[in-house]
Amino acid sequence: MKNNRRLFLKLAGLTGFSAVGGGILKGFASVPQSNVLPAPENARAGKQLFNMSGYAAPKLETVRIGFIGLGQRGPEHLSNTSKLEAVEIKALCDIRNESVLSSKKVLDGTAHNPVIYSGSEDAWKKVCDRKDIDLVFIATPWHLHTPMALYAMEQGKHVCIEVPAAVTVEECWKLVETSERTRKHCMMLENCCYDFFELLTLNMARQGYFGEIVHGEGAYIHNLLGLNFDKAGYYDMWRLKENMTRNGNIYPTHGLGPICQLMDINRGDKMDYLVSMSGKDFQMEKKAEELAAKDPFFKPFTNHKYRGNMNTTCIYTSKGRTIMIQHDVTSPNIYSRIHKISGTKASALKYPEPAKISGTDGESWVSDEQMKLLEKQYEPAIVKKIGELAKEVGGHGGMDFLMDWRLIDCLRNGLALDQDVYDAALWSAIAPLSEKSVANRATSVDVPDFTNGSWKKNKPVDISLQTGGTTKAKI
Ligand SMILES: NC(=O)c1ccc[n+]([C@@H]2O[C@H](COP(=O)([O-])OP(=O)(O)OC[C@H]3O[C@@H](n4cnc5c(N)ncnc54)[C@H](O)[C@@H]3O)[C@@H](O)[C@H]2O)c1
Repeated sequence: MKNNRRLFLKLAGLTGFSAVGGGILKGFASVPQSNVLPAPENARAGKQLFNMSGYAAPKLETVRIGFIGLGQRGPEHLSNTSKLEAVEIKALCDIRNESVLSSKKVLDGTAHNPVIYSGSEDAWKKVCDRKDIDLVFIATPWHLHTPMALYAMEQGKHVCIEVPAAVTVEECWKLVETSERTRKHCMMLENCCYDFFELLTLNMARQGYFGEIVHGEGAYIHNLLGLNFDKAGYYDMWRLKENMTRNGNIYPTHGLGPICQLMDINRGDKMDYLVSMSGKDFQMEKKAEELAAKDPFFKPFTNHKYRGNMNTTCIYTSKGRTIMIQHDVTSPNIYSRIHKISGTKASALKYPEPAKISGTDGESWVSDEQMKLLEKQYEPAIVKKIGELAKEVGGHGGMDFLMDWRLIDCLRNGLALDQDVYDAALWSAIAPLSEKSVANRATSVDVPDFTNGSWKKNKPVDISLQTGGTTKAKI
């Protein structure tokens, strides 16, 4: 238990948002009144070392991969990428040897024979130090993402980081600067950008179906109360510790990513400022006390003010559009990422499912038959190409496979990635910025422009698949 306490304190230190002007527990202290908060994190704005938006790295004949973090999520990327041609899995790393050994079984019957690294907190550096690796996947607890990604890029590796890519605004800037300086891709693996309805609405938006996009909504509403308090769940209870030391929308990217792509954020529009409000905690402290009454393991998790259960964050863009993002991972809600699009001609709403699209009269949702026609008419190129196979492979209904396939295909064909370091930084930064607003009575907080002005000329994500699309899969 002593050890657990020490790790908790360490995590608290690592995830502190000193860069955004406050201690980590500030969100729970009595809240001062203030006007619009200054944005010291914007001080770096003005100089882009190199524009990574639309950047195509030299083609890779074979993509040689190392994996760091093989808990619940890492093995899913391992399994997906092992099914793709011209991929070599070179290294597997997890601090826990048993996790590496059990994930290696995913590769049974394949030609992949990776070297294993484990047993110490920094064994992962040896993966990044290898000369025969092009790409490092990172699926570890959040506070380790940026330190691992920075080191990997410094060693000449492209990186893919699970969501969120960073936990402080300072870390977001470091990712941007390092990716620009090293010219290495830094992609955050926002798989929800590849879900079928999100891809459909992106394609429809591009073809003008919704008219001008006025407003978008997204969310991560998923009851993880049991899993967060499960001793056999997340490694060393890391996710519960995040929930007990921060207050805001600490996991914004699933709902936000698809809306940002649809609104061409960082590529024609940019976020300007946000306001964020959290209610109080009705569930987590109570749950910790109930569990601690029976099991002393949970004692360190009692007597803490946990994150407010529901957070609502509203973002204003430079073009005057709005985005609303919600986060609640403790209430017994039905799963939802909302995905609402409101345009001048039509609208769409994914959750509660079934997903719906309005007719252009704006009066009613289209019928099931009309929906099928729309799905056919606006079927995205990537779905046409590999959608059936992705559904067969599975992984959140196939979106994980679509993302991993597209990533490897872009690297092999020397194409720009769909999600660049500016997306990773911006979408992740919403978490610490929301904490800052919550801590100050929902005061408005400026959102940094990680593109340093290049958003005005950056091109929208290429969804045409006119180039590439050559990577075959064997399942
Ligand atoms: N996009 C999605 O749909 C999705 C789904 C699940 C999880 N995730 C993300 O994936 C990431 C991992 O989540 P998870 O559910 O797999 O958590 P997890 O706790 O199951 O796995 C994390 C792994 O990291 C390992 N680890 C910890 N410290 C390490 C170190 N120093 N070196 C090497 N390995 C270390 C742990 O042993 C563990 O196996 C998180 O960012 C999470 O948000 C994303």
